[in-house]
Amino acid sequence: MRRWLAGLGLALLLAAGIWLRLTYVHYFPLVPDEIGGPPASPPVLAAFGDDPPVLTIADWQGRRAPLLRAAFAKNVYGPMPPPLPGRVEKRVSLHDNERLVEVEGEQLRQLTIGFGEAGERGQVNVVLAMPPQGTPVRALIVMQNFCGNDAAVNWRFKAVVSFAAPPKFCKGPMGFAAHIILGRYINGPPLRRLTGRGYAVAMVYAADLVPDDARTAPAGLRKLYGPDATPGGALAAWAWLYSELGEVLTREPQLAGTPVVAWGHSRNGKAALLAGAIYPNIAGVIAHQSGRGGAALTRGTVGETVAQITGEYPYWFTPKYATFAGREAAIPVDQHQLLALAAPKPVLLGSGDRDRWGDPSGSFRALQGAWPIYRLYGVPPLTQTKLAKPDLTGPLASFMRPGTHGVTTADWETFLAFLDIHFPPPKA
Ligand code: GCU
Repeated sequence: MRRWLAGLGLALLLAAGIWLRLTYVHYFPLVPDEIGGPPASPPVLAAFGDDPPVLTIADWQGRRAPLLRAAFAKNVYGPMPPPLPGRVEKRVSLHDNERLVEVEGEQLRQLTIGFGEAGERGQVNVVLAMPPQGTPVRALIVMQNFCGNDAAVNWRFKAVVSFAAPPKFCKGPMGFAAHIILGRYINGPPLRRLTGRGYAVAMVYAADLVPDDARTAPAGLRKLYGPDATPGGALAAWAWLYSELGEVLTREPQLAGTPVVAWGHSRNGKAALLAGAIYPNIAGVIAHQSGRGGAALTRGTVGETVAQITGEYPYWFTPKYATFAGREAAIPVDQHQLLALAAPKPVLLGSGDRDRWGDPSGSFRALQGAWPIYRLYGVPPLTQTKLAKPDLTGPLASFMRPGTHGVTTADWETFLAFLDIHFPPPKA
């Protein structure tokens, strides 16, 4: 009787899963493939306050880029954390004898990394997956995740832990539903495909450093910034983490000289874009469905509003950002200028045709608005005219695939196609 009931329960759960998978997308309205809405402003090359128009790379790098970085700190993200010494404090080899994570055991390890003289400013655990011995490493992809490293490797290793406890919804029936709704790769990437193709992958739960929680984030930020500094928002801290992990991990002998790509979905995509805009050691960015505070123009009127994002997540930003709620046109900088700050690095933006919240058109208009700076670096004119018809050959690219918010197998096809073009294997 018990077994029969358990079987029935499982069958019902599966049926509910299939039903959810087939129907839920229809609750989300379709985003048109056409690019709608006003162009990004202010134009990226035009005068900015007292700063005269940008005509050359020297104008951009010497004058405008520092001004814009300061304007983003002041109005959106707050100051970045100070540079701190970071070092590997502990290493654990993860032996995947059952091959359940699809990577050979010896390629996988967990590194505990501390920041500050003795790790006192913050500590994170990283799961590092390396390509098979002897494969030239194309790039190190640093990925931040939502549910901790344990979830990123499918809860296969006792040794894999994060310092911060991930949200409760990550496991159990809610976790199952999240996979169905948010896609197969919402928690972690297709590791074997990535390592087999020559990419090293470092996974981290950024809440280890600064909790993703309004109540506890301020203490994490104070610890990281130190007692004498005014802390920025959590996105600034997470962006800093991409860069610092890049520094520490490229000191590993097999990763010396390897380009670092910051990968993030949604809130992690916002942090990845900021990292690409600020830190020279970030060589490329994949920001999937980064939305408001990411690639979407703040002056855009589609999707999440400034009032909504700062109401729910005030600690992500500097307090001033919330003052633009309802008067977005008054913000002195917009996100096309953030994308421009990453030029000429490869940056890929992803969106979904039922992810209105993430404003695919506003993100594409940000890309259009940033393009003149890529042009200064010799990139050919932008040819893409439809959201769903990407041109991945350009360094700044954007795609829109069918579906809602999440990370799917199809997304990884596109991420890999982009990476393969822009990060060829190193010459022997
Ligand atoms: C919320 C938030 C978004 C964010 C998203 C995510 O929906 O409002 O700004 O991008 O979470 O991180 O998944």
